[in-house]
Formats: sequence, C-alpha cells, structure tokens
Amino acid sequence: MKYEFDEVIDRINDEFSFSFKWQGPAYILDSLGVKEMREDVICLETADMDFRVAPEIIEDLHKLTDHGIFGYSRIPDSYRQAVCGWYERRQGWKFAPEDIYYMPGTHAAVAECVKRYTKEGDGVIVLTPCYGYHSDVEPNGRKYVSVELINDGNDIFSVDYEAFKRACEVKENTMLIMCHPHNPTGKVFTNDELIEIADICRKNDVIIVTDEVHSDILRKGQEFEPMMKVCGPEKMIACTAVNKTFNLAGLSMTNMVISDSDLKLQAGDMYGMPTPFGIQAVISAYSKGDAWVDALNEYLDENIRVCIDFIHEKLPKAVVAYPQGGYSINIDFSGYGLSDDEVVDKIYGKAGVVLNSGLFFDDTRGKQVHRACLSSPRSMCIEALERIAKEFEGC
Ligand SMILES: Cc1ncc(COP(=O)(O)O)c(C=O)c1O
Repeated sequence: MKYEFDEVIDRINDEFSFSFKWQGPAYILDSLGVKEMREDVICLETADMDFRVAPEIIEDLHKLTDHGIFGYSRIPDSYRQAVCGWYERRQGWKFAPEDIYYMPGTHAAVAECVKRYTKEGDGVIVLTPCYGYHSDVEPNGRKYVSVELINDGNDIFSVDYEAFKRACEVKENTMLIMCHPHNPTGKVFTNDELIEIADICRKNDVIIVTDEVHSDILRKGQEFEPMMKVCGPEKMIACTAVNKTFNLAGLSMTNMVISDSDLKLQAGDMYGMPTPFGIQAVISAYSKGDAWVDALNEYLDENIRVCIDFIHEKLPKAVVAYPQGGYSINIDFSGYGLSDDEVVDKIYGKAGVVLNSGLFFDDTRGKQVHRACLSSPRSMCIEALERIAKEFEGC
C-alpha cells in the first residue's frame, strides 16, 4: 500500500484537532518572552507528527466506534502478544508478556519509577542536554542531577564517563534516566556505551530507567539495540510506546517492561485504566503497522536530508548534525554572533516559526540553539526554514 505523508492537515481550525502543538504554543512563547507571533504560524516543536495515523489502525478504530460501548476496559492477552511480537520482530528483544505494565503515558511511567524506586532527597541522573524530565523528578522531592554529554563542536555527542562515574558514586544518586535514542541530540547509543553505562550504574546501585520511545524512528541503515536486551534486565525498567512511532500520543499508551523480579509491580499497583481506543490502537499498531513505519522512516529520512542540505546552503553559519534516531534536528545559531533576543525574535517573532529552544533541554547554549521536529509534510518543513533563512540573510 502507498501511504500519504505529503497531505497538509489543518490542526488549528478543525473541530476534532484538540492539538496541543498547534493550538497552544503560548507557554513556549511566554518562556522566551515573545510578544507577537505571525498569524500564519508554523509549529515544529512538540514531538508529535502532522501525518494521519496508519489506515490499518484507523480502520480498526472505526470498527471499535461501531461497537458502540466504551466501558471500563482491561488489557487482553492479544495486547501483550502484539507488544512482544513487535519488539521481537523489529529489535530482536524478547521479554515475557507478563513483564509488560501499562502506564498512561511515558511521563507517568518515568515519574512512577522515580517515586517507587528512589526516596525523597535522592538524586536522579540525566545525561544533558536532554528532553525535560524535570517534571518527573523535582515535584516528587528528588534532585535532578545533570551530567553533560561532550559536544565535539559539531553537535556529535559522547558520554563523559569520568563525570558520569563521579555522579553515580554519590550515595544519594540512586537512579539514571536514560533517553535512548537520545532526545534532542538524536544519538543512538552503541552497545559498548550501553554496557559501560550499565556497568557503572550497577557497581553503584543506581537503577536505570531507559526511555526508548523514539526507538522505531531511525535513519536508513541505523541499528537500534534496546538497553535491556544488551545489558540484561537487572535493576532496569524500560519504557516503550506507540505514542511517537504511530502518532498516537493523545491516547497515552505506554508500556513499561520490567523483567527483574525485585522491581516488579503487583497486580493491585496498576496505575489508571486504559481506554478501549488506546488498547485497540496498540494491538493494531503492533500487529499491522510494520509497512507504515517503514514508509514513515523513508519519508523522514528524506525530510531530514532535504532540510539539512537547505540549512547548509541557506544558513551557512548555523551548525546542524544528522540525527541517528528520532525526527528532530538542532540548529545552533551561535555562529551568527547575535544576542539571544535577536535570535528568538527572528525565528519566532519575524519568521513565525515555533521551535523548542535549548532552554527546554538544559542545553548550555540556551536560546542560541533550537530543536525542529521534522515530522510534518515536507512542504511545511521547507517553508519554515525558508522563512527563518530570510531573516538571517546577510547577518
Ligand atoms: C524522550 C521522550 N520521553 C517521553 C516523552 C513524553 O511521552 P508521553 O507523551 O508518552 O508522556 C517525550 C515527548 O516528546 C519524549 O521525547
């Protein structure tokens, strides 16, 4: 089947959109001090996609709608089999169906791990710049401990093992939140890196929560190895989801995989109740979604290639690297020698493009670097970059 990713779908005015990304970027603008925005705004920030969900999933959700009763729901065996089947088929990772624990979203999962496996006052280590786990850590009375990745100057990142080891050796630091593939750098950790990180954690009794929600979105030829598959299940919880891969984030269906018997939750510990739509979407995605995800990855590869080529040509002082995983790129504008406010005004105020600034990811470059999610029709990504390039012309 041929899938359509070029269609531009109105997510601002459509009565069924309810889009956080398109209808509510005000918090980003406030945080950056942007007062006015062009009306024809283009949003490439929140990591969801502007593509219609796979027809195979929509068809099953129509059938569910026709069933007509949406009562309290339970996870059937077919759900667990679909999840296990996907990871075994796609990533060679085997785990038992009973190791799967439903959570209403990945934040909920990470926050629950923080509450359950650490105690108040403990430190939770994050390799930064990183996607925002502050809200899972700090409101729960734990300390957010940043260990900076090393940037080679061209936005290729590696682990600072000395700094990481020092952080793990602090007795109060009892958990690492891994983000693999890493958001926003797009880094896919190698097996050697995963093994070294896990070794350091285990020697120091640091529990690992590995957030792998971007693991199905990979550049052509890029392998992904789940951390639990590579390093074993001891003292580790993996978070996986259909949310990013299948553009189903609004259904909040995350699966934690816990195979270590010391960490397992009890039946009564289940957190929230999934909706029938969420349950069906997971079953359909993981049993019928392979071809759609393959086509999606091809489309995203081309989006990323075209956009990076454009940046090299039309924004020559910007630094941008190819992400190995995920669909976002980081554009570092510091080569233009402009103030933070000038950079923000050009992108957000004048060009009318909403991205995520480095502030959101604890990137020390702050407002000089901005993440763009290229998970939109190509015409939209290019238009956003054309508008930005016009503002930086001659600078
Ligand atoms: C690495 C990572 N983890 C978690 C989330 C949030 O996931 P959820 O919507 O399932 O809470 C995101 C969203 O961008 C993310 O990039």
